[in-house]
Amino acid sequence: VDALTIFLAENHRLVTGLHMFGFVLGFGGALISDIYFIRFIKDFKISDEELQILKGFSQIVWLGVAIIILSGLGLFLPDAESLLGSSKFLLKMLVVLVIVINGTFLNFLITPKLTSINFFDEAGKGYHPRSIRRLAFALGAVSSVSWFSAFTLGVLRRSQFSLEQMLVLYVLALSFGVIGSQIAEYLVSKKGFKFPF
Ligand code: HEM
Repeated sequence: VDALTIFLAENHRLVTGLHMFGFVLGFGGALISDIYFIRFIKDFKISDEELQILKGFSQIVWLGVAIIILSGLGLFLPDAESLLGSSKFLLKMLVVLVIVINGTFLNFLITPKLTSINFFDEAGKGYHPRSIRRLAFALGAVSSVSWFSAFTLGVLRRSQFSLEQMLVLYVLALSFGVIGSQIAEYLVSKKGFKFPF
């Protein structure tokens, strides 16, 4: 373990570069998924072909997450003691956990049902497309806010704010994001509303 720690410390720039590469794939993939999801639902349904495209983006996101976590461990090991005392690092770990759990829900709860998100069939019996659509928008917002928060926490200097202050900010950002997403969902439900992208 000692030799590994020394190796990681000596290659700090390289490991940081990997960390950023993972971020580009993960955040970029998540962002492009959101934009294409909005484009694809402009005709109020997601076709099988469109679903395959979204699944491709999702694989890029998970690859990015794997690279981020591995390289993150590589950055963590040589500096573990001081990082465990850093409130911004601890909160970042919580945010990463939210990204992973939220992404798992998106993958296993929303993705299989995407093609049945029909924006005008409110009559479906025993199945509530509207609630799934709302959930899809909410989880999408949690994802974007969390990626942005993890990045902000990553570039922040250590311990500028207390853990409580940052946690409050993160929860506030999540709340605004989810509320905004529900407003967006409502607007999309009204036929004719156009997103700028
Ligand atoms: C969405 C997930 C993540 C994002 C966006 C992210 C982003 C960043 C950024 C921007 C930096 C600053 C790099 C620099 O200027 O040197 C950084 C540093 C670091 N990251 Fe991450 N990171 C993420 C996940 C992780 C994970 C999962 C770990 C640990 C397993 C981790 C551990 C570290 C460590 C130890 C550092 C250097 C020390 C520090 O500044 O806190 N990161 N990260």
